[in-house]
Amino acid sequence: MIVLVGFMGAGKSTVGRLLAARLGVPFVDADAAIETAEGRTIPAIFEADGEPGFRRIEAEVVRGLLDGPEAVLALGGGTLGSASVREALTGHRVVLLDVSLEHALARVGDDASRPMLRNRDLPELYAARQQAYREAADIEVCVDGRAPQQVVARVLEALGEAGVGE
Ligand code: S3P
Repeated sequence: MIVLVGFMGAGKSTVGRLLAARLGVPFVDADAAIETAEGRTIPAIFEADGEPGFRRIEAEVVRGLLDGPEAVLALGGGTLGSASVREALTGHRVVLLDVSLEHALARVGDDASRPMLRNRDLPELYAARQQAYREAADIEVCVDGRAPQQVVARVLEALGEAGVGE
């Protein structure tokens, strides 16, 4: 499994879809899988169960996906907060799409479908997540100022160098 991690707005879903097409494997978006499993949108889950409730569901769904068939899997920006998910990443190829907070915010704006953009100190949240992203990642690709296709090319190059390319 190739697993894409990074902050909201890094382009995990867009890049993941393109990368999967290039590699000829399915693309799986963890956020979409959570919504399908629950029959509720992410904002609805946050509203009813709070962030802790969402994180429990998220960790369970993502662990299931990591156990499933080969794919390119895009995680949510906060998924690595779960120790059980970090452990379940062993043996998978983890790619960090590294985005600056400035570029990330320019991309996501004030998207109502992302509850974590509200009521939070975003610079603090961003800073707090960097260590987990970097510790998990086998490969890091900077996405600032790069079009999705350019990012895909970089990821493929890096996977090739690591001996796990096309
Ligand atoms: C979250 C990011 C979202 C989604 C949820 C929580 C976060 O995914 O999982 O809204 O905590 O950063 P994206 O990173 O795809 O926006």
